[in-house]
Amino acid sequence: MRSSTRKLISFSLVFLLEAALPPAAEPINLEKPCRRFVLYYHDNLFGGDDVANATSATATGPTRLGDYLFGQLVVFDDPMTRSRSLASPAVARAQGFYFYDMKTSYNAWFAYTLVFNTTQTKGTLTIMGADMISEKTRDLSVVGGTGDFFMARGVATLRTDAVEGIKYFRLKMDIKLYECH
Ligand SMILES: *[C@@H]1O[C@H](CO)[C@@H](O)[C@H](O)[C@H]1NC(C)=O
Ligand SMILES: *[C@@H]1O[C@H](CO)[C@@H](O)[C@H](O)[C@H]1NC(C)=O
Repeated sequence: MRSSTRKLISFSLVFLLEAALPPAAEPINLEKPCRRFVLYYHDNLFGGDDVANATSATATGPTRLGDYLFGQLVVFDDPMTRSRSLASPAVARAQGFYFYDMKTSYNAWFAYTLVFNTTQTKGTLTIMGADMISEKTRDLSVVGGTGDFFMARGVATLRTDAVEGIKYFRLKMDIKLYECH
């Protein structure tokens, strides 16, 4: 075979192979989520006598590994509001748990579902990931959704907004969806 013919054949082969591959996914523009909203998460930890007010409770105590509550698990059904105020109307509930999982610092792992059940919004968004409490902002994965958030995916950026002793803390959650259907 002449070398020019051989070149032509191998070129055509590469071309055919490339044509057979599925198209590359569109790059995601981080600046342009398809949906974005900010909600505040209020964690009101049960202290033993505040049944009416508390929305979370320690379900398992810490182990004795290290000094940072390693193994303590907190289950919550916390209100999510649009404004910072705990007294403002809840637009969703955050239902799930977190546990402390670091020996040398306070570090938690969160897994929860935002349950929306208002006249405007019905559906759920499930969020999970590491909460490195000492970091100013932490990104958790929005792994899926249902109802108005059918098959959604994205990132929830958490920021500690207030801490009042061990009884109460508030997180600002900036929820950015990059897949909306
Ligand atoms: C409920 O908890 C919040 C946060 O700790 C506190 O500000 C508020 O006074 C409490 N309300 C009652 C009725 O105890
Ligand atoms: C949603 O709200 C309706 C009306 O208040 C109620 O009947 C229903 O049980 C709620 N569903 C959930 C999952 O909370």
